[in-house]
Amino acid sequence: MKNTLIKTIPYIDVKKLLAGEISPASFLNIFHKYGFAYLYNLDFDPLNIGTQQFKMLQSSAQSFFDLPLEKKMQYYIGASPNHRGYVPVSEKGAYGDEKIRVYEAFDMSYSLPGTSKEDHQKLRGENVWPQEISDFRNTCESYYNQMFLLGKSLLRIFAQAFDLPENYFDAYTQHPPAQLRLLNYLSDPRLNGQEDVAMGAHTDYECFTFLYQTSPGIQGDIHRDGEFINLPVFKNTLLMITGDMMHFMTNGYLRSLYHRVINNGAQRLSFPFFMNFDFETQVEVLPKFQDFQAKDYNVQQKLPEKIVVGQHLLGQLYRDFPYLKAKIDMGDWKVPFSIPKYNLFERV
Ligand SMILES: [Fe+2]
Repeated sequence: MKNTLIKTIPYIDVKKLLAGEISPASFLNIFHKYGFAYLYNLDFDPLNIGTQQFKMLQSSAQSFFDLPLEKKMQYYIGASPNHRGYVPVSEKGAYGDEKIRVYEAFDMSYSLPGTSKEDHQKLRGENVWPQEISDFRNTCESYYNQMFLLGKSLLRIFAQAFDLPENYFDAYTQHPPAQLRLLNYLSDPRLNGQEDVAMGAHTDYECFTFLYQTSPGIQGDIHRDGEFINLPVFKNTLLMITGDMMHFMTNGYLRSLYHRVINNGAQRLSFPFFMNFDFETQVEVLPKFQDFQAKDYNVQQKLPEKIVVGQHLLGQLYRDFPYLKAKIDMGDWKVPFSIPKYNLFERV
């Protein structure tokens, strides 16, 4: 397995970006060129994303994962009506390059009280919260809200870069399936010397992802040539990668970064937040990018004219979660569209 080192590290001072000292065009250009960037200088009003927040999230997540399996299973995602809660190691998705599953997770998303079964099946509703750990809920909710605010702020920068009104995307981010995952990669002696990956290669299904990690492990196919390059980890910094919806809207001008996680032997925590549009949002190629022809636009087949955000997401979760596949196959979870065989945005 090749472990190539990165040559250039794109980074963005978020305080300067939001103060207008970095132009939306140069922000866009970074993601066009690389498909990812490191966000730093995040600890200022009203974002306030800093050491304390990262530490608290890490500590809450560790306390939860330290609980006995039977306790954690009381919050099993498959028992929730709207895809929230604990994901055990046994909940292994269909990834050929991921032979031995070595991670567990806790998933939460936008909280919307009092929704119906139909809404639940559009991934709306409330989160589940373990009672065993004091402050778990507060810590996660506050981190979630900070990520969501950052997501909305950056969508405004993207809107300007796309020659759209600054608030163009506000209408599509009212209650989106924007998920925060707490991921615990376990150390597993069975993996020593194995050509196995900890999380199979994929693109992220949403607009973009903010990732905070305790140690390295993620690799990206940065040059779209099949070579996975190690992405380093920096303190108090978020790794941001663009996902499928940005790829689609920009006709491939922004790439959905194909990435995976490798085993490095040690336990590792990782916290991706996936910024997304509302479930029903229909995404189309934006006028600015109608004529753009990406050289390396090697998605698996011609893309449709429109994509419904939630349908794309559910179609991929079907592959990732055996419990959800079973519910959908049995008709317990209604999906009024056909489930794709693969993700259109992944490389061949
Ligand atoms: Fe990912």
